[in-house]
Amino acid sequence: MADDLCFFSKVPMSLISWSITAFDIWVIDDLQDTFSLKSPKKSPLVLRMVVLMFAMVCGVYICSICLKQIGTRTTNEFLNVEEPQRPCPEPNIEPWEIPYVHYPKPKTYSRDECACNPVRYFAILSMQRSGSGWFETLLNNHTNISSNGEIFSVKVRRSNISSIVETLDTIYNLDWLSSASKNECTAAVGLKWMLNQGLLQHHEEIVEYFRTRGVSAIFLFRRNLLRRMISAEILARYKPLINATLLIRDLKQVEETQTKALEYFKSTRHIILYYEDILKNSTKLADVQEFLKVPKREVKSRQVKIHKGPLSNYVDNWDDLQKALNGTQYQSFLLGDYRK
Ligand SMILES: *[C@@H]1O[C@H](CO)[C@@H](O)[C@H](O)[C@H]1NC(C)=O
Ligand SMILES: *[C@@H]1O[C@H](CO)[C@@H](O)[C@H](O)[C@H]1NC(C)=O
Ligand SMILES: *[C@@H]1O[C@H](CO)[C@@H](O)[C@H](O)[C@H]1NC(C)=O
Ligand SMILES: *[C@@H]1O[C@H](CO)[C@@H](O)[C@H](O)[C@H]1NC(C)=O
Ligand SMILES: *[C@@H]1O[C@H](CO)[C@@H](O)[C@H](O)[C@H]1NC(C)=O
Ligand SMILES: *[C@@H]1O[C@H](CO)[C@@H](O)[C@H](O)[C@H]1NC(C)=O
Repeated sequence: MADDLCFFSKVPMSLISWSITAFDIWVIDDLQDTFSLKSPKKSPLVLRMVVLMFAMVCGVYICSICLKQIGTRTTNEFLNVEEPQRPCPEPNIEPWEIPYVHYPKPKTYSRDECACNPVRYFAILSMQRSGSGWFETLLNNHTNISSNGEIFSVKVRRSNISSIVETLDTIYNLDWLSSASKNECTAAVGLKWMLNQGLLQHHEEIVEYFRTRGVSAIFLFRRNLLRRMISAEILARYKPLINATLLIRDLKQVEETQTKALEYFKSTRHIILYYEDILKNSTKLADVQEFLKVPKREVKSRQVKIHKGPLSNYVDNWDDLQKALNGTQYQSFLLGDYRK
């Protein structure tokens, strides 16, 4: 309430007097209406003077409250500057963990009672159609994890390394506000980042950023790359025709991209996960929570998998694919459901 009143303190004097006049006229009209029924002869000039006095007293009162408030505010700010930042107590962690533990001070809000809860930084490094959307909903179901989505799908944010760094700084300072933002008690904050979204292109600087800022990487890949490819094709078209001639070349390319990413980021603290394993083995999610050092919780996702059952149901030229992969290192991709 008092804050609202202080709106007046920021407007120029002329506006205040305007608002008083407007108020004045409005009240007078109102009073005249009521009074005119009972005493039509009453002098409107006296009435005007009374209401004007009333309005002026109100104005002075509001201004004095605002001045008082501004006074306290500036003193507080002044004190904040003067008072040395009291460091949070040493967390009970192993020495190797120290570079990975942070105490961000968001610009947009206060972490309040959790200001001394350490925060870990992470990035989910993945490729399209590898289940990272589903995986992220699982992470975000944890009260202390905030994963802000595919932030670098927006091209300007990855147009050069300075925009990338600026964006990462905002995220890791807990100032990125998205639907995944949690309360002040976030203990792990990160994003989902596809390998083709500037990550491999700027890998040297990003590895350096991860090293100096203590960011951990969660690699999320899919074991069955044929399923991944078909899943992408289905998005575009029902029962796609897969070009069998290009198939092996494309699978190799995806494998090489993944290998390259692992090679580039091998010095970063990381964990490697496969979509199929998370689906089958609930221990994997506990491993991730241990990796992020958040309290162990059971996490759920409402997102359902769309494509179930044998791949042959989804592709028009299954026989061609079988022939193309038969006897190659990718033969196992042809097998049933979520097999290796
Ligand atoms: C986690 O999922 C459950 C079940 O869908 C839901 O009730 C709960 O509110 C979710 N928690 C968070 C923090 O999103
Ligand atoms: C980086 O990209 C941003 C956004 O596209 C642009 O505003 C900025 O000038 C660029 N900086 C450099 C150093 O190229
Ligand atoms: C997790 O969040 C809860 C409430 O949201 C908070 O009480 C708790 O301190 C947080 N834990 C950590 C490790 O930050
Ligand atoms: C598969 O791709 C190759 C190379 O681009 C092309 O020559 C061939 O015609 C394509 N096959 C089909 C069935 O589209
Ligand atoms: C599940 O994963 C854990 C490690 O994350 C592993 O030790 C265990 O053997 C796995 N269980 C199965 C059934 O694969
Ligand atoms: C795969 O190749 C083997 C021989 O190498 C053959 O016996 C089998 O019929 C082939 N399967 C398919 C589905 O083409």
